[in-house]
Order: sequence, then C-alpha cells, then structure tokens
Amino acid sequence: MASRLLALAATLIVAATTANAAELSIAIGDTGKAVAVMRRQLDAFEKASGHTVRVVPMPSSATEQFARYKLWLAAQDSSVDVYVADIIWAPQLATQLLDLTEPAKDIIGEHFPSIVESQTIDGKLVAVPFTTDAPALYYRKDLLKKYKAAVPKTWDELAATAATIMEKERKAKKGNKDLWGFVFEGKDYEGLTCNALEWIVSNGGGRIVETDGTISIDNDKAAAAIDRAKGWVGTIAPPEVLTFGEEEARAVWQQGNALFMRNWPYAYALGNEEGSAIAEKFDVTTLPLGSEGGKPAATLGGWNLAIPKYTRHAEAAIALVKFLASAEQQKVRALESAALPTIRALYKDPEIAATQPFMPRWEGVFTDAVPRPSATTRLKYNEVSTSFWTAVHKTLAGDGTAAANLAALKGQLTAIRGAAW
Ligand code: GLC
Repeated sequence: MASRLLALAATLIVAATTANAAELSIAIGDTGKAVAVMRRQLDAFEKASGHTVRVVPMPSSATEQFARYKLWLAAQDSSVDVYVADIIWAPQLATQLLDLTEPAKDIIGEHFPSIVESQTIDGKLVAVPFTTDAPALYYRKDLLKKYKAAVPKTWDELAATAATIMEKERKAKKGNKDLWGFVFEGKDYEGLTCNALEWIVSNGGGRIVETDGTISIDNDKAAAAIDRAKGWVGTIAPPEVLTFGEEEARAVWQQGNALFMRNWPYAYALGNEEGSAIAEKFDVTTLPLGSEGGKPAATLGGWNLAIPKYTRHAEAAIALVKFLASAEQQKVRALESAALPTIRALYKDPEIAATQPFMPRWEGVFTDAVPRPSATTRLKYNEVSTSFWTAVHKTLAGDGTAAANLAALKGQLTAIRGAAW
C-alpha cells in the first residue's frame, strides 16, 4: 500500500513538473567542443528540472556572434532564452537584459568579484559568470628539445627561434616541410583586437583607450609593436594568418604544423585529445614580453550567461543559468574543455589539476589579465574595437605603416568619442 502511494506521489510530481515544463533555448559560440559539452550539461539539467533546452550554435567568431545577438535583441526576439555572452558586451547589451541581482544573490558571492563587477552595469547584474579566459603561448616541447632551444621570453626571441627551427625542420630529411613558426588570430575581428592589445601592452604602448578615457593608441611603442607583428606575416607565420580566427589557428597547430601558437585555453584540452597529432608534445606558458617598460600581457576574455528581457520563460531560464554557473558544472567544463572556472576554489581542485595541469598556474594569469577598454568606452566599444582591428589588419597586410594607421585611428576614435565616452 505504502509503495503504491509513493508511486502515485512520484507520478503526480512528474506530472506537475511537466505541466510547468518550459522549452528553453540557449545560444553559444561553436568553438572547439563547446556545443557538445553544453549538450551533455543540458541533458543533465533536463533530467533534474523537467524542462527541455535546445542549443542554438553561433558562429565561432565573437564579432559575428555579437551581430546576431544585436539583431535578435533589436527585434525583441523571444526565441532565445539564454545568451552565452562575451565579457566585453555587458555595457552594450545591458538595457535589453534582465537584472539577475536578486535571483543570483545566493550564488554570486562564489565568483571572482572582478568578473561580477564587469557584468554589473549601473548597479544591475546583467550576466552571471560562465567561464573566464586568458590566453597562452602554446609551444612544441619536442621541437624545442630537438633543436636545443629555450621557451622564448620576448617576442624577438620567439621570432628568432621560430625562424631557425622552421628552416631546419623544413630542410631536414625527415622534417616537417609544412611547419610554420607561429600562428595567431590575425583576421579582422575581435580576436585581432585581443592579440594586438597584447603586443602593444607588452611593449609599453598603453591600452588603446586608458581607464580615464584618454585615447593613447597613437604612440611610438604601440606602432613598433604592430610593425614587429607585421614582420611575422609571411615569414614565421603563414600569409593566411590574416584570415585566421581561433579555430583556423588551432587547425594548423593541431595538425602539428606550428611551433608556437597564441590561443585561449580551450585549445589545450583539444590538443591533448585522442587522435591529436600533438597530444603530450606541447605545453603552455605566458605570452612574451615586448620591450623594457612593457609587461607580460594577456587580454582578459570570458563568457557569461545573460537572459534577454523578451524571454517568456524567465523562471526556467534563471534555473538554467544558475545550474550552468554552479561549481559542479564549471568543473565539468574545466575537465572536458579546459574552460577556466570563475570560482576560485576550483583552481585548487586536484582532479582538475591532474587533467589540466596548466590550470592552477592560470589563476594568476587570469587575475593579471588586461581588460579591453569596454568598461570605459561603454556603448561605443564595438565601434572602437572595429576601428582598432581595422587599422591593425591594414598594417599587417602592408597597407600603410603602423605610425600612419595609428595616427588616423586616433582621429577616428576621437570622432567616435565625441564629447565623452
Ligand atoms: C575568446 C574570449 C573572448 C574574446 C574572443 C575573441 O573567446 O573569451 O572574450 O572576445 O576570444 O575572439
């Protein structure tokens, strides 16, 4: 009798949950294994909550993804309930997102305050942390050992080592004829802003727009940093690097055809997967230094979970966001895709450290990382970044010197700023 009652109660509970069950959807960039890992997490959420969730894969380019989100939000679209959103977008999307301060107040204290602050716009928490991001210099241990070369500490050392090993390896009888020295994100999009900011900050050339609003980009050290990078294109880096985003750079690297790569941590997990040509053959270190007066610089990246005002399932969407932000699910992503957690305790997790040995070291890299000027330039950040990466891309492609292009950029940024940011 008791067991029949229990069974009846269980049926009623399931029926009740199903009655409130929402059909949600979540948009996420299709980079590496992000969509597949998300799907597995959603399966777990569906089981626990009774809701169903559809994944809407977005282009891997952050710039293209941003354009889609802007269109949906402008149309007050209600078909996407949760956006996985880049750390730099918060000020630009804030007015169209729900305030998560109240619903997230029991979990937000677990996350790094700096990330929470970046997602708090005029007192409103517009997104809950999903993952943080800080790039690495990937290098091939086997090739550096074979040619008795050290891990480079400066960009000039990197270029010299890359040139030597590339030449020797291409000439060697059993060498790799397709080896390049260095791959990075050189396409005209947000990823180039990240790379170029690193070249410039590490050369003492400022942060494009400083935190007090000053436009600082038109200076000799910044120009020298971009000219230096121009020298890599077609020499140590393939000419096609000017069309590379993260995934194109990773493709060359993971086929075993690059000595060095600048990329985000997601490439670490993929590089060590079964079937990868470079599994166990590589390691990561911090990005090189430009000159004295510069600092080793990593651009701060990361992704957060936002809910558009136009959702018809706010309650279920909030449950999903809190589930994905939880320590348990961040650990799943750290183990499976080397996604950097936004919860400090996980950097000391022994299982994560064993599976992704670089990760405990990366807490420091992430906390020292340089933010792009999105908090300063607020609604104008996308225009600022577009003008910046365009000037850099032109220079890399040989269309004008860095000095001339940065001087023109200063004029453009001044016009974009107008009276104030
Ligand atoms: C990474 C970063 C993100 C950045 C993007 C640029 O995904 O996490 O913040 O905007 O790369 O390509």
